[in-house]
Amino acid sequence: MTIEYLETTPDIQTYFELRDSVGWKNFCVEQTEAALKDRKFFVLAKDGEKYVAMGSVVGDGMYYTIVDVTVRPEYQGKKIGATIVNKLVALIEKNIPEGGRTSIQLIAAPGKEGFYIKQGFKILPNEESGAALRKVIYT
Ligand SMILES: CC(C)(COP(=O)(O)OP(=O)(O)OC[C@H]1O[C@@H](n2cnc3c(N)ncnc32)[C@H](O)[C@@H]1OP(=O)(O)O)[C@@H](O)C(=O)NCCC(=O)NCCS
Repeated sequence: MTIEYLETTPDIQTYFELRDSVGWKNFCVEQTEAALKDRKFFVLAKDGEKYVAMGSVVGDGMYYTIVDVTVRPEYQGKKIGATIVNKLVALIEKNIPEGGRTSIQLIAAPGKEGFYIKQGFKILPNEESGAALRKVIYT
């Protein structure tokens, strides 16, 4: 199996399918189309013609959030997720100007914290930061 990595935005169907494959509920089409246009970076993984994984970054250059890291179940455990996260981090790093700094946030799905710790992320709270907080709004 040869996995190819692409730094391109998926079409909406591919995006929906990859989220579906890990059991995540999708957002409505209107929100998804807008979000796909606004995302800072995407990394997709392909096995032949099949999209098997993705990861994405939301951000403005000072603060970034990694989202949508999804690997189809039959492709998990093959370092594809780690490769995607590391490629996203490298894309972010490349965009930091000389003398600048940035921070990358993310919220791990339950039980996935260890995966991100292996990629160099630190659990909050820690000695420098309080806990991460989140508010979810439904309409
Ligand atoms: C979590 C997920 C992205 C990991 O991707 P993956 O390709 O299966 O993982 P990798 O093979 O790249 O694993 C890299 C390392 O993390 C470890 N790891 C993977 N999942 C882990 C977990 N849940 N807890 C602790 N460590 C984990 C692996 O053992 C491997 O360790 P190693 O480098 O010492 O061998 C993937 O399982 C997935 O898509 N899950 C469903 C969706 C999801 O929860 N995404 C995370 C959103 S926050």
